[in-house]
Amino acid sequence: MHNKPIGIFDSGIGGTSIWKAIQKVLPHEDTIYLADSKNAPYGEKSSEQIIQLSLKNTQFLLDKGCKLIVVACNTATTNAIAYLRERYHVPMIGIEPAIKPAALQSQSKSIGILATRGTLSSRLFHSTSEIHAKGIKVIEREGVGLVPLIEQGKIDSKEVRSLLRIYLKPMLDEHIDFLVLGCTHYPYLIPVLEELLPEHVTIIDSGEAVARQTKAVLEGKGWLNPSERLAQYQFFTNVDAKVLNDVLKDVAVSYGVRQLDF
Ligand code: SIN
Repeated sequence: MHNKPIGIFDSGIGGTSIWKAIQKVLPHEDTIYLADSKNAPYGEKSSEQIIQLSLKNTQFLLDKGCKLIVVACNTATTNAIAYLRERYHVPMIGIEPAIKPAALQSQSKSIGILATRGTLSSRLFHSTSEIHAKGIKVIEREGVGLVPLIEQGKIDSKEVRSLLRIYLKPMLDEHIDFLVLGCTHYPYLIPVLEELLPEHVTIIDSGEAVARQTKAVLEGKGWLNPSERLAQYQFFTNVDAKVLNDVLKDVAVSYGVRQLDF
């Protein structure tokens, strides 16, 4: 089992922010990443549609022999991970918004969360929020329109800036000191967010925590790859491969991107 790859999927390129963290923490693990960009954004779909797409993505990765699946999409995690765990018996790691660390550290007792409608309306999100943010004001905003712009590569654009100004305003009015990014696409907006937010607001995403959890699960099962050779990284997408290549251009390892009719 230890030689098999880790499978990672997302509604598009956003989960590469999670892949980058996993690649750093687990440099000897092969990975297969599936970007279902053709169906992005998941956040605007019904729960049933998200479940069906997540099942299809997981099956694709399992057919390629993956030993563990990372659901690198908050919307797919909150809506579908329970179904995936019921159906498949490989370990499944999901991405939940980092509400707990933000709530624990907040001095102003007010935190912001930016996520998709699919995540914010899910039961899993609400129970996490109720358990971990007792006594904290949580200002939620749907990042409507952000994922399609990121998928189009319009990250540092006028459109992104004006949407972010609208979504951040009610949070700043409530004096947040932490902003939780509840969508794996949003870490690509951090440079723009840092410009728009006052210095005392800390931005939190889930990449590192997910990478550490992935390592812990593999360690626990004795499935870590003991090899010291260079790992292999395969990426699959169902739209023009340029979109993925663009977000991977700064990585220091070699990888392959293949476009599929998926
Ligand atoms: C989306 O496809 O709408 C965003 C994915 C996410 O929630 O991470």
